[in-house]
Amino acid sequence: MKKQVFVAEYRMPKTFHASLIFSLFLLFTMASSRDNMLPSHLQLNSALTCRLVGGLTRDQRAICYDSPDAAAIAFEGLQLAVKECQHQFRWHRWNCSSLNVKSSNPHASAIMRRGFRETSFLYALTAAGVAHTVARACAQGRLLSCGCDPLGYRASHDPRGRARVNKWEWSGCSHNLAFGIEFSKKFLDVREQVDDLQSKINVHNNNAGRSILSSQMEVRCKCHGLSGSCQLRTCWRATPDFRVVASTIKRQYRKALIVAQEELNNGLSTLRGRPRGRRKSRARPAPKTSLLFFEKSPSFCEADPKTDSAGTSGRVCRIGRTSRTGSCDLLCCGRGHALIRKSSIKPCNCTFHWCCRVDCQRCKDDKWVAICK
Ligand SMILES: *[C@@H]1O[C@H](CO)[C@@H](O)[C@H](O)[C@H]1NC(C)=O
Ligand SMILES: *[C@@H]1O[C@H](CO)[C@@H](O)[C@H](O)[C@H]1NC(C)=O
Repeated sequence: MKKQVFVAEYRMPKTFHASLIFSLFLLFTMASSRDNMLPSHLQLNSALTCRLVGGLTRDQRAICYDSPDAAAIAFEGLQLAVKECQHQFRWHRWNCSSLNVKSSNPHASAIMRRGFRETSFLYALTAAGVAHTVARACAQGRLLSCGCDPLGYRASHDPRGRARVNKWEWSGCSHNLAFGIEFSKKFLDVREQVDDLQSKINVHNNNAGRSILSSQMEVRCKCHGLSGSCQLRTCWRATPDFRVVASTIKRQYRKALIVAQEELNNGLSTLRGRPRGRRKSRARPAPKTSLLFFEKSPSFCEADPKTDSAGTSGRVCRIGRTSRTGSCDLLCCGRGHALIRKSSIKPCNCTFHWCCRVDCQRCKDDKWVAICK
């Protein structure tokens, strides 16, 4: 009798009940599957990550369950790309802010299903971000499936085959670019299953991002020998700071080619494009590192969920030269701007006392900032 009362009082909504059972079932099946190399709590966490990250295709989810550790690093790479995008576009009307809130997967975002110039930038940047992060993680020993670059780049001869005068060797731990690029291809290009032009363009832009990353690999060296005599130099290959890669991709974004109209109709096997605004110039095959787009971007002036646009109302803009990116004229779309006073507390009038103390006053710092109407 008592039990019945309990049930009656604590009955959960049916849907909640079902989803609870479903989640428990998932937890159980995930915990028992795959990757026995990982400790069990990590297995669960990575598998949960695969489950929880939104906007993955079925194939991506399968890869995620197969290599949860590499996939977790790939998600870090995607986040790095989003952060960089926000930096590179901080003075643009579309500023990448919508990608952050959606999920940890920028590909879930509406703009990734379009063909804008911004879209081409994002494909290249995310593909490069994943390759970059995975390549570094390999060298840092964060992944079971890869280590330092095994080829070691044993190029102690110059291109003509003569031994170098100042001898040096490739050694140390090179960032594993090959593995990073391979995983970026496997994990991101698999999204593009349909054999249509848009998928081809997305893969082209992914490859462009990865090519730009490869072309910017750095050689870092260290001298050995008595008191820095550098009798022996060891060198290794390292991925550059991601900001450098992102800035290069941003330059390609400005020079992006619009896919020729003929192409849209007959879908040739080599993609060709022409610089925008030069209709009369001949379409030419796109170099490996150039970005391709096929849809004119909207103004991004007003909020529009269909294009992931937050609109520019309320954005801080720059007073002054009107042609400058981020100028109030460009950013506010002709609606004008308002000046508001923004105050913050900053350390000031700092004095140094021997030894070693610095005393500062706290000063109110008032600034006028311009805000788009
Ligand atoms: C980007 O735009 C959004 C929406 O307009 C705004 O809230 C955000 O502060 C902007 N980010 C930067 C870095 O300016
Ligand atoms: C810094 O110190 C000077 C003199 O000591 C004072 O006149 C000035 O107001 C201080 N600055 C601020 C911002 O408080």
